[in-house]
Amino acid sequence: MEYEEAAALLKAKGQEQLLQYYDELNESERKQLLSDISKVNFSIVESSKPHETKIRGHICPVEAVSTDVIAERKDEFFETGIKTLKEGKVAAALLAGGQGSRLGFNRPKGMYNMGLTKELTIFELQFRNILNIAELAAPFHIFIMTSRQNHDETVEYFKSVNFFGYPEEKIHFYIQDVSPACDYDHKVFLDTKCHVALSPNGNGGWYTSLIRNGLGSVIHDNGIEWINVYAVDNVLQKICDPVFIGATVMKGVKCGAKVVRKARADEKVGVLCLENDRPAIIEYYEMPENLKVLTDENGELVYRWGVILNYLFDVEILDDTIRARLPYHAAEKAIAHMENGERVKPAQPCGYKFETLVVDMVKRMGSCLAYEVDREKEFAPVKNATGVDSVETARELLLKNGIEL
Ligand code: UTP
Repeated sequence: MEYEEAAALLKAKGQEQLLQYYDELNESERKQLLSDISKVNFSIVESSKPHETKIRGHICPVEAVSTDVIAERKDEFFETGIKTLKEGKVAAALLAGGQGSRLGFNRPKGMYNMGLTKELTIFELQFRNILNIAELAAPFHIFIMTSRQNHDETVEYFKSVNFFGYPEEKIHFYIQDVSPACDYDHKVFLDTKCHVALSPNGNGGWYTSLIRNGLGSVIHDNGIEWINVYAVDNVLQKICDPVFIGATVMKGVKCGAKVVRKARADEKVGVLCLENDRPAIIEYYEMPENLKVLTDENGELVYRWGVILNYLFDVEILDDTIRARLPYHAAEKAIAHMENGERVKPAQPCGYKFETLVVDMVKRMGSCLAYEVDREKEFAPVKNATGVDSVETARELLLKNGIEL
């Protein structure tokens, strides 16, 4: 993009502040800034509103296949799952592009050491699980989504540990797309004099970014029909779990979602429900208070199925819906930015970042199996350094599950 083109675009969008230091920059810095400006999707900034204002459709509870039923039918689910894996129809996608700001660890979150007496990173814990399944069935393709900020360090780390002995040609790293951050007047921030404040565009961008990075051929040339998407920060989760795969395939649905019984009404997890008769996830901040606390005749929460970011998606529907843009959610954040010629790092929120969410993909799938898992065995999120969903609570659960730390 040339200067004149950028200037005209920014004038039309009311975002001229992005060129305010242009005259002070050298040639390569100017190129950098113009390249960043060419990447900004201004419509995100103009059209997205903070999440509080979002209106949802008619909400009803959903039935889940319970752990009891799963235990009864375990063998047949397992057999189907293993067969599907052996046929090479399943891949995994690790979402590792987040900024992990709550944890306050300034390296890729997967490199966080959960060990107490030895080094045991989150990536290693997850790959132990993957290696077990690969041994039972066959090695499957794994897509690892990173961000511009953590990509090189993530790839270097995997090389340094020799990909945990997993076939390297089956692991595909890619960088996720970005979205701009802005102030409360929707003016896009500059991160430095020559960089626009661009951050990862949320975990909902995983499939579009994967395709944009040219990895669609891996999926289509290898006949992959299902992708198991999972978060980097659940250290107990099962990846490409054959029982889960089998249950989803046998049910004939387009999506499977692992869910846990909510621990309490105000637990901060999204809930799988029916919205206007379609399976959908309502985030905790969108759920009306009266529905959050509603209980049935057994005293159980009516809206009790909390999602843990472990989904199985049908590739055909992902491809069919790829052009329909997911909504962007505006989140108030503390954003480092340029102010009067200096870079400031506010401690308090000062504007918005915009993210698409993987939870919004579920509604597109049309059908979804809610698959209950025991939270003590499969849900140990590492979101914070201490307190709820922290390193401490996750370590406790790892120890309870017999994992040596
Ligand atoms: P979170 O919603 O917990 O976000 O991510 P985060 O950025 O990791 O952490 P905080 O909010 O800054 O503390 C849930 C999962 O989605 C991935 C994360 O890496 C994690 O696996 N994610 C999130 C992405 O891959 N990209 C994103 O842009 C956001």
